[in-house]
Amino acid sequence: MTAAKALSIESPTAILSTWIREAFRGRFPDAESDFADIAVVETANPEFGDYQCNAAMGLAKVLRQAPRAIAETVAAAGEHPDCLARIEVAGPGFLNLYLDNDWLARHLEGIAADERFGAPEAGAGKTVVMDYGSPNMTKPLHIGHLRSHNIGSVLDRLHRFLGYKVIADNHLGDWGTQFGITIMGYRHFGDEAAMQTAPLEELERVYVLSYEQTKEDPAWMEQCRAELVKLQSGDPENLAMWEMFMRLSLEELDRVYARLGVQYDIVHGESYYRDKLAGTVEMLEQKGLAVESEGATVVFLEEEKLPVCIVRKSDGGFNYATSDLATVAARVEEFDPDRIIYVTDERQQLHFKQFFAVCRRLGYTVELDHIWFGLMRLPEATFSTREGNVIKLEALLHEAESRALDIIEASSPDMPEEERRAVAAAVGVGAVKYADLSQNPQSLVTFTWDKALALDGNSGPYLQYAYARIASVRDKYADRFPEGTPETEPLRLDETIERALALQSIRFGEVVTRAAHQYKPNVLTDYLYELAQTYSSFYQNVPFLKAPEGVRESRVRLCGIVAAILKQGLDLLGLKTLERI
Ligand code: ARG
Repeated sequence: MTAAKALSIESPTAILSTWIREAFRGRFPDAESDFADIAVVETANPEFGDYQCNAAMGLAKVLRQAPRAIAETVAAAGEHPDCLARIEVAGPGFLNLYLDNDWLARHLEGIAADERFGAPEAGAGKTVVMDYGSPNMTKPLHIGHLRSHNIGSVLDRLHRFLGYKVIADNHLGDWGTQFGITIMGYRHFGDEAAMQTAPLEELERVYVLSYEQTKEDPAWMEQCRAELVKLQSGDPENLAMWEMFMRLSLEELDRVYARLGVQYDIVHGESYYRDKLAGTVEMLEQKGLAVESEGATVVFLEEEKLPVCIVRKSDGGFNYATSDLATVAARVEEFDPDRIIYVTDERQQLHFKQFFAVCRRLGYTVELDHIWFGLMRLPEATFSTREGNVIKLEALLHEAESRALDIIEASSPDMPEEERRAVAAAVGVGAVKYADLSQNPQSLVTFTWDKALALDGNSGPYLQYAYARIASVRDKYADRFPEGTPETEPLRLDETIERALALQSIRFGEVVTRAAHQYKPNVLTDYLYELAQTYSSFYQNVPFLKAPEGVRESRVRLCGIVAAILKQGLDLLGLKTLERI
């Protein structure tokens, strides 16, 4: 096969939208509208054409005509672009557009040869900083940490795919309140032996004990605050302890990230900006944005109807917002990004509103987006073993792999042990990721194993199996027709189901663009699921190897294109594809 190149391919949506806009302009030259908003959209139902335009309905007033008459006038506009086979008026004034079959086949061939499968290079020349994952340190990662890493890394890959320059930054919470609490806990309750065997669990244990103490004992709370201030002002003993905590935490992160396939360009935690915090507050004061209030330094955000944003506490300690303000300054200076994207759970909405409001007052022009997501809930009895109240992310991944292994042992008893384990890791971790990604990010996700591991629903394993099945068609063909070269045979789209599959395949580029720009990985999961379903009815409804020569090659080629699109899509979602399951 020849290597894919970057081609510039205009989608039928773009071609037809431009054409129909011009048709309106040509037909209604005196109208008090430039028709700039007119566009066609993909239809979900083939009864309404491949694409549809409903502009006539909204223009009845401006053009002083019935929508149906307007639609008829436009439909009769002479010259059609090559891609358009016919245009029909339906119902009260819908315009249904049908693509030319041959054009569709050639267009899909072009998309298959393009390294981006027809997606535009939307991000050319644009830089985006992505801040996701960003866990607070010294605690093991738990299931609550999945979504930010998972959704964030998909948005990261989607943007890179579209040609954006992405700087993925893991903005670790490594300089905040929890350190004062952990230092006190470690000093008073620390167990050396436990630190050797399970350090993060031990740190979490002492953190919890110390935290409980803060609720009962105000003096303890005071001391925790004092320890944090000491750390933040460079006390050597606290700093040494902090360094040890950090080293242990980072080892754990590396392990889990390798398993999840999460990668960063930079890992600049809050501590990286620690020498900038005092300067940030001073700068805010100098600009008259921050003022003294009850011993603290705050920015009033009454105009924005938001609560005050505290940038320096009365004990001299700095806040989360101070650190984010110092970080934004450094990012703008170092990377000059067009956009900074922050991915966190829904509970941080207020923080980002306040912090963005202060940024606007400071005159930053970089676009700042907070992408928040709902919590992930696990019903009782999701786990065979459950320790304590929080479920560790590693335990979730472990359970996923062992459940996947059971399924594979049942379905492929002949597979060698080592391969089976590798497949189980890919299917298990993929199932967990997909279960999260296939939901609207902003909704509450209820995770169940049945759904995550289902082989016949909208799940990761379903798509991984679908891919492996499609890939095997090519192998079967090669066995029977070793001389055949389906990749160079022209595609033919004579059957309705072939045409439907081709139509869906050419939409990949638009889907990926939408998923990236709307910050919704589920736009892509929905698409891949539908594509796999259409493929499955294609496979069931038309003969492949028994089809006449030419048709046979075209079908095998179409399979190969669908497989490549599925693989690319799953890759963007961070799911591995396997040639054999
Ligand atoms: N460390 C924070 C948390 O665990 C998330 C940080 C998000 N990024 C940021 N720049 N504020 O909740």
